[in-house]
Amino acid sequence: MSISVRHITKNYGSQKALDDISFEVGAGEVVGFLGPNGAGKSTLMKILTCFLPPTSGSASVAGSDIYSQSLKVRRNVGYLPEHNPLYLDLYVKEYLELVSGLHGLKDRSARVKRMIEQVGLGPEQHKLIGALSKGYRQRVGLAQAMIHDPQVLILDEPTSGLDPNQLVEVRALIKRIGEEKTILLSTHIMQEVEAICDRVIIIDKGRLVADDKAKVLRSGKLQREALEIEFGQDVRADLLLNIPGVLLAENKQGDQWILAHDASVDIRPAVFQFAVDHQLQVLGMQKSERALEDVFKELTRPKS
Ligand SMILES: Nc1ncnc2c1ncn2[C@@H]1O[C@H](COP(=O)(O)OP(=O)(O)OP(=O)(O)O)[C@@H](O)[C@H]1O
Ligand SMILES: [Mg+2]
Repeated sequence: MSISVRHITKNYGSQKALDDISFEVGAGEVVGFLGPNGAGKSTLMKILTCFLPPTSGSASVAGSDIYSQSLKVRRNVGYLPEHNPLYLDLYVKEYLELVSGLHGLKDRSARVKRMIEQVGLGPEQHKLIGALSKGYRQRVGLAQAMIHDPQVLILDEPTSGLDPNQLVEVRALIKRIGEEKTILLSTHIMQEVEAICDRVIIIDKGRLVADDKAKVLRSGKLQREALEIEFGQDVRADLLLNIPGVLLAENKQGDQWILAHDASVDIRPAVFQFAVDHQLQVLGMQKSERALEDVFKELTRPKS
């Protein structure tokens, strides 16, 4: 697994920013990380990149533990933080050389040159970062995240504030990078997920509320069948997603789950087999049909 998050909880004083989050991301997956403002996305990303310790739980990234092997994690992870902090009074090349120095890379100027090509910074490479437009600053941010050729990229809202042209270009860039790397990317834009991601994880108020294979988004079929099911015990979303035919596993409340599936498949036999294999009781099961957009809104709307 490229990213493994196990029961991560993070408290800021009395506020619970993350509440028992668990999921796994396989090598090469491009995962969209969604949730309303304040859901805890940036907090989890800071934890996975060793900028912030969790209150409890554990995680490993690129096979290394965030506590005991944090230097290894940093070596194998590229991180574009929220708001893309950069030194505005450095030149583009100067900054990228500084970053490669921090990583202890040997062939610095060759790497900087390759990165500038890869992210399309060529025409702007001789400018001060402070003189760049927002889209080009994003490219500098992506370049610094990738300069050490990490296996895993963690990108916190990489396309926020871009104009429509730059948006298309930066998305295409991320998509191209995603062919070789594992990417966890946060965004507020559904179309972005549709364009780039294989899978979607949605959190709300620090809790994981959906783990969705984005096939369903890509296919453009917003209507699909769903099965509401109540188990007698705790069960994890990523295990439910392994049931053949299941496209989406959302926690409704407690041990009640909604499993979306292609309308052509009857997943009920597989769900019963899953329950038997995992020694779970099935307390109830019924069919339902909803649109994905509604699912997102319903899962993340403020509860009165
Ligand atoms: N350093 C901090 N100290 C105290 N509270 C914090 C701190 N950082 C984040 N929080 C709180 O934790 C919660 C989650 O914040 P986080 O930045 O992770 O959300 P987010 O999902 O990234 O939101 P957005 O979509 O607005 O970027 C928020 O309520 C926020 O106010
Ligand atoms: Mg954030």
